Amino acid sequence: MPTLELALDDYRMFADFLQRHSGIVLGDNKQYLVRSRLSPVLRQHQYPNLGELIRAVLGVGNLSLRNQVIEAMTTNETLWFRDGAPFELFKQQLLPQFADRNGGRLRIWSAACSTGQEPYSLAMSVQEYRQANLGKLLQQPEILATDIDTNVLATAMVGKYDQLAMGRGLSPLRQQQFFNRDHDGRSQIAELIRTMVTFRRYNLLDSYLLLGKFDIIFCRNVLIYFSIDDKRKVLRQFAAALNPGGYLMLGASESMVLLSEEFEMVRSELGIVYRRR
Ligand SMILES: C[S@@+](CC[C@H](N)C(=O)[O-])C[C@H]1O[C@@H](n2cnc3c(N)ncnc32)[C@H](O)[C@@H]1O
Repeated sequence: MPTLELALDDYRMFADFLQRHSGIVLGDNKQYLVRSRLSPVLRQHQYPNLGELIRAVLGVGNLSLRNQVIEAMTTNETLWFRDGAPFELFKQQLLPQFADRNGGRLRIWSAACSTGQEPYSLAMSVQEYRQANLGKLLQQPEILATDIDTNVLATAMVGKYDQLAMGRGLSPLRQQQFFNRDHDGRSQIAELIRTMVTFRRYNLLDSYLLLGKFDIIFCRNVLIYFSIDDKRKVLRQFAAALNPGGYLMLGASESMVLLSEEFEMVRSELGIVYRRR
């Protein structure tokens, strides 16, 4: 039976590894989190204790084990149209600006998309905008959705959700309009919405040069886990990845204060969004 004891030195080594490879800062006294999240990995690989597992992770050439423990440490909490207002702001204030620019071509990035609720909510908002503004945004928008965790991406790509997940933020009208109920009781996102979104594994600490330029980036509820330096690095890269005048939407509890000079804050009754200067 493996033991879940975790020596302070092993904990510190692991926390340092996790921050360097994912940006996630554990801080002090989060041993309980490491224990609970790594115990399934420990059992699967049959290491005698957490220290041995951590030393194996830090050893060279163990890429798949490294990725597995990083994935185990991510927090994937998400829901549909999270916080409401950012998606209304997207639909009412951002989409109209882009509908007449670039012939209606639009590239959006949902950076840290978890199981897909955020990018699919954006795709549903685009569709609602089109329905209310006939003839606008006829070109299919490109929504790139990325995450470091391949498990959540697998769920997102299939686009099938149980009733518990469906009940978190989706109105009955949207459930009816944008999903098909399966015989197993789960609901699958409609083809029209699914095909707007492309999923891909991507680490926010890596370079974004190969991703191309975007008009709008949603990066919500992930930078809260990062250090100030990594937040600055990510924001610098977002600025470079946005077309001039492009927008960045952060999470409700996240702000740009003291982190970047490359954005201006745009306030409205629906909340705050950041525009690349
Ligand atoms: C709390 S969820 C937020 C999901 C969604 N954006 C929302 O607001 O509902 C945070 C996500 O960030 C992902 N994540 C953490 N570190 C990451 C990194 N370095 N690169 C990309 N994604 C990361 C996690 O896997 C997780 O799915």
